[in-house]
Amino acid sequence: MKKSVKTKNEAETLNVGKELGASFKGGEVVALYGDLGAGKTIFTKGLAQGLGYKKVITSPTFVLMKVYGPDNPQIENFAHVDCYRVDSSEDLYGIGFNDYLGRKDTVMAIEWAEKVQDVLQKSKSKIVKVKIKLGRKELERLIEIS
Ligand SMILES: Nc1ncnc2c1ncn2[C@@H]1O[C@H](COP(=O)(O)OP(=O)(O)OP(=O)(O)O)[C@@H](O)[C@H]1O
Ligand SMILES: [Mg+2]
Repeated sequence: MKKSVKTKNEAETLNVGKELGASFKGGEVVALYGDLGAGKTIFTKGLAQGLGYKKVITSPTFVLMKVYGPDNPQIENFAHVDCYRVDSSEDLYGIGFNDYLGRKDTVMAIEWAEKVQDVLQKSKSKIVKVKIKLGRKELERLIEIS
């Protein structure tokens, strides 16, 4: 899916994520780019909902990765990774990241994906890039999916 959308509030961004998540079949890795407060976590919450996860997800800033079990026949795991505190992809060893990357029964969402670009480039997974930028107005965001 390639598209650009402008959202007017948090709920709209969540919905764009939800729509994308609902289209997934398993094996997708979502690489999220955007500054602090752009809306990467909001978008990821939408992804989780689209995959069928009904409970609340919270940002894995300190633990780096959280894994959820969505109610979805094809997708066993939804792994949410936050690389804000990651210096290089070596920090991902030991948190279980490599246990999930490349799996058909798993969808991953990676915030601050630019920090682990090397690992993503080497991976054979389908990478979906999501770039979120601030719009002109306070609650406006520009989301580019490619
Ligand atoms: N159109 C919008 N879409 C998403 N979030 C919005 C929008 N307008 C305002 N916001 C606000 O922007 C913030 C986005 O926060 P969020 O935690 O998703 O950002 P983030 O990109 O994950 O930041 P971080 O880099 O700190 O992880 C929230 O406070 C949200 O309410
Ligand atoms: Mg975040």
